[in-house]
Amino acid sequence: MRIQVKQVNKSYGETQVLHDVSFTCEQGETLVLLGPSGAGKSSLLRVLNLLETANNGTLDIAEQTFDFAATITEKQGLALRKKVGMVFQQYNLWPHMSVIDNLIEAPVKVAGMNKEEAKSEALKILATLQLADKADAWPLQLSGGQQQRVAIARALMMKPDVLLFDEPTAALDPEITTQIVNIIKELSSTGITQVVVTHEVDFAKKIASHVLYLEQGRIVEHGTNASFTQPKTQAFAEYLTH
Ligand SMILES: Nc1ncnc2c1ncn2[C@@H]1O[C@H](COP(=O)(O)OP(=O)(O)OP(=O)(O)O)[C@@H](O)[C@H]1O
Ligand SMILES: [Mg+2]
Repeated sequence: MRIQVKQVNKSYGETQVLHDVSFTCEQGETLVLLGPSGAGKSSLLRVLNLLETANNGTLDIAEQTFDFAATITEKQGLALRKKVGMVFQQYNLWPHMSVIDNLIEAPVKVAGMNKEEAKSEALKILATLQLADKADAWPLQLSGGQQQRVAIARALMMKPDVLLFDEPTAALDPEITTQIVNIIKELSSTGITQVVVTHEVDFAKKIASHVLYLEQGRIVEHGTNASFTQPKTQAFAEYLTH
């Protein structure tokens, strides 16, 4: 499902953190958001699933259009988040629920899926992420990499058209990062659209079909993976050498 952002501005109080942001991400692309700390990457990502609303501009995602100048209801936000999944750096698993209960909670409670169906779907997804033996474990009994894969599994339960990741490898060691690279590539081959915020250029290069480089809330460069070897702007070239 394509994502189209047009002329989005966003402020927190007096501070404007996104300036006239416009871009298109076609279905099946893996778009990486790069930029210095405070550039607005997480803010932009959160606007894409309406965890934050912008001051103005429009968002097209999962076949819905939102005009930020108009009122966006909580109901619209909930409907959108059924199609647009999010995976955070801190995993955000519910610690008092087993892995399988973490996976089936939203599909059963929010989407009204039959519990037995949800369980069998959860076991399938856990198996594809090499977590079949962890269904009954508690999140805190798992390693960081395993918890991150459970978080991805949980997002996949809603069969999203779009998956958003905020620093999915920030707390993980290099070997586990490779697993996350493989999962993102695998998902990409199924046609799902992915937007990934990261600080890690090597990780970004491996997964990106496209890259969006931001500085101070403005898009500086938007290109394909070729931008990593042939940056179009001096600013992105400099960022890559750091
Ligand atoms: N809830 C908030 N209230 C006020 N200001 C905020 C809020 N969230 C972010 N900001 C500000 O917005 C700007 C952009 O923040 P954002 O988190 O989007 O940056 P980022 O590119 O994700 O940075 P990092 O790489 O450090 O995660 C920063 O100046 C930040 O201080
Ligand atoms: Mg951030």
